[in-house]
Amino acid sequence: MSSFSISAYHDVDQVYAGIKNLMAQPPIHMPKDVLDTYIRKIESTCSKSKAMTTEAKEYIPGGVQHNLAFNHPFPIVIDKAEGPYLYDIDGNRYIDFIQAGGPTVLGSNPPIVREKCIELLNHCGPSTGLFHEYELKIAKLICENMPSVDMFRMLNSGSESVIAAVRTARVITGKKKIIKVGGAYHGWMDQMVYGIRIPGSGRFESTGIPRAYTSHTQEVYPNDLGQLERTLQLNILRGGTAAVILEPLGPESGTYPTQKGYNKAVRELCDKYGALLIFDEVVTAFRVGMSGAQGYFDIKPDLTVFGKVVAGGYPSAGGLGGKKEYMEYLGAGLSGARKKQSKVGGTMAANPLSCVAGYYTLLEIKKQDACAKAGRAGDRLNKGLLSMMERYNLPYVVYNQGSICHLETAGTLFIKINYLKILQVMKEIKVRKQLMEEMGAAYLAEGLVTLAGSRIYTSMADTDEVIDEALNKFDSVFSKLRR
Ligand SMILES: Cc1ncc(COP(=O)(O)O)c(C=O)c1O
Repeated sequence: MSSFSISAYHDVDQVYAGIKNLMAQPPIHMPKDVLDTYIRKIESTCSKSKAMTTEAKEYIPGGVQHNLAFNHPFPIVIDKAEGPYLYDIDGNRYIDFIQAGGPTVLGSNPPIVREKCIELLNHCGPSTGLFHEYELKIAKLICENMPSVDMFRMLNSGSESVIAAVRTARVITGKKKIIKVGGAYHGWMDQMVYGIRIPGSGRFESTGIPRAYTSHTQEVYPNDLGQLERTLQLNILRGGTAAVILEPLGPESGTYPTQKGYNKAVRELCDKYGALLIFDEVVTAFRVGMSGAQGYFDIKPDLTVFGKVVAGGYPSAGGLGGKKEYMEYLGAGLSGARKKQSKVGGTMAANPLSCVAGYYTLLEIKKQDACAKAGRAGDRLNKGLLSMMERYNLPYVVYNQGSICHLETAGTLFIKINYLKILQVMKEIKVRKQLMEEMGAAYLAEGLVTLAGSRIYTSMADTDEVIDEALNKFDSVFSKLRR
């Protein structure tokens, strides 16, 4: 039996009240002497990382190709990942709360998945461009477990799968408008770089993207059903809404949590106005549970976007699923005779390596009830952090949706965008971002790797001992803050 990662839904009003209180206070910076000691520690224990990433700046824009952690004072270079731990090239061990950005629900590099991948590589190699048995196996497994998914098309990333969903919704409905929830990140494709990270930010981050590309993308504030309905109504005069796309736990992996009844109400509004409902389950599918957040909330979206865990932490993680009548618009190969077709695909899409890795990962998550175990670890961490906040009288906000934990010390994403006072807003973003970097560096020096200093993913590998060790490390940071 597999169960959900979320043991009890958090009190959303309490979270937002906590955030309001945090934002009303001046940012709490780490005392300079404490921060300097942490930075010196990183400089002295991570010298090989420093040398390598300094050289990388010559060849790689920004010095890293991909890094979800903050790079303050410099990025660390990972040499080994195993279960709950990461090890850098200087031999330092870290508790891994970044989890490759979400996919490693089983913990890092589980032998059972690795062995199947090696078997495949020895026998077939990573890709052939032709059909492979595991394409069927993973599609079948996903369809069997995700309530709204009759058919599955595997793709390369969450970003391109979102665009596949958007295009398919437009093909099906013949309408153009896409409504998203402000703050949500749905990948970096032109149409979706709109209202990302901070609700109400519109084209704030759309540098290099012509206005026309985002002209059919609209955003509504998290949990604001009135605004959503008004937008759907107005869109009738503008040619109609193709789809509403949302992250079911709330934008930025639940950083702005959704009220428990929100998704159901959105489903009803979509039905009322003839728009499709797209769930972006890039983070939540097979992390919240085998049936995803849609199983948890008991809602059937029309289309579901997948990513991350569908390739088990291996490359090429993406996919689109949905009702058969909709998914049949996605032709493949030479069977493109259908007039109205949503063209998606890619050379590496559904390559045997991604399929085999994803298949055995999902199978193992189910067998081991990994979502629930990872969720228990998240609950333990959340509880420990909450009591720490009380003990040190800190206004930080701590909440979790099972294995997705949020530790808001800076509240950067909760800054209110006001274009009339944009210089002030930019300054506040800078100050709060710097604070996140400081906290991220402090955690790193203590041996904790977090996502951007504010998000923590837990996995099945996080036993009580691992979580308690992590809590001691957080305690060491928070005990040094002076108020
Ligand atoms: C909710 C959500 N959608 C889409 C994406 C984009 O996925 P990818 O990074 O695989 O392109 C992400 C990435 O973090 C995400 O969190």
